[in-house]
Amino acid sequence: MLTTLPGLIDAHVHLRTPGQTHKEDLSTGTRAALAGGFTHVLDMPNTTPPIVDRATLLDKLARVRERAHCDVATFLGGTEANAATVAKLAGHPLVVGLKLYLGRTHGPLYLPHLSSMVDHLRSWPGIVAVHAEGWHLAAAIGIARLFGRPLHCCHVSREVEIELIRRAKELGDRVTCEVTPHHLFLTEDDARRLGPLSDMRPTLGTTADRDALWANLEVIDCVASDHAPHTLEEKRGADPPPGVPGLETTLPLLLNAVHEGRLSLDRLVELLYGGPRGVYGLPRQSETTIEVDRSARHVLSGDTLYTKCRWTPFEGMPVRGRLVSVTLRGKGVYVNGKVRV
Ligand code: NCD
Ligand code: ZN
Ligand code: ZN
Ligand code: ZN
Repeated sequence: MLTTLPGLIDAHVHLRTPGQTHKEDLSTGTRAALAGGFTHVLDMPNTTPPIVDRATLLDKLARVRERAHCDVATFLGGTEANAATVAKLAGHPLVVGLKLYLGRTHGPLYLPHLSSMVDHLRSWPGIVAVHAEGWHLAAAIGIARLFGRPLHCCHVSREVEIELIRRAKELGDRVTCEVTPHHLFLTEDDARRLGPLSDMRPTLGTTADRDALWANLEVIDCVASDHAPHTLEEKRGADPPPGVPGLETTLPLLLNAVHEGRLSLDRLVELLYGGPRGVYGLPRQSETTIEVDRSARHVLSGDTLYTKCRWTPFEGMPVRGRLVSVTLRGKGVYVNGKVRV
């Protein structure tokens, strides 16, 4: 029996264009999106060069127009120097928000100084998404409150962090958050087994952290994959970059959780569609739906994926629930297990 759902939204992906297209590109990344049930993805700015001004933004949007097979909107990145200039680009229809990297992660974007975070939260007129772990998260919530700005907390992973967000929401702050499938389904015990293939930012937490995310499910606005492809060679090399792919494993993992009774189907749709749409105020895609077979069994595996990197930290995991078709603006773009674009 098939179930029809809206085309899903992944609020946090790295399609690596421009500059890192040996890991992923707009064509392979958006095919992976469709194969994962996502018809709209929000792409991060930590590319080479990063998307931090008008020239880099327009260049990227031209590439999106040329190569993307689903809708792609983008974040702009905050730097130590661009608070005033980047804020002027806020109204662009394909810009969903400003991304601030308060901690170090893959790529050049990083804000070491408190003053630059304050400048950005003061100047940017829309939603600010943060890579903020631990103290950085507490600071971001506090400063966003001081300036009355909406704040979105990316890839929340720790018990204390989700509890702070719960408290901020209870107090009426305009704070939203996302969690990743890897933080919902893996822990530091898996990290020992997987080695560098499980290295990402934030790192995997304890079982208590993972359980706290599930216990606070109603506080979570979106599940976002943080699809962060790197090649197997890079991950097994001397200096492995942090990040794991996720576009094609997110939906099956969540359908499996529905099958196991840990999540309702309505809540799944909220986390992968209504939530991200509301957080970023995204337009509706007309005649755009997916069909899933909620009882189909399969085993997650890297060599069936469309992502250029073709590996997954969930290798070998049996799941119930599978994508059957994707229709984007009336056109069948995923049919019989294959992307048709
Ligand atoms: C991301 C990447 O590779 O771009 N890596 C990661 O470990 N999550 C960057 C990020 O989202 O922090
Ligand atoms: Zn991050
Ligand atoms: Zn991020
Ligand atoms: Zn990311």
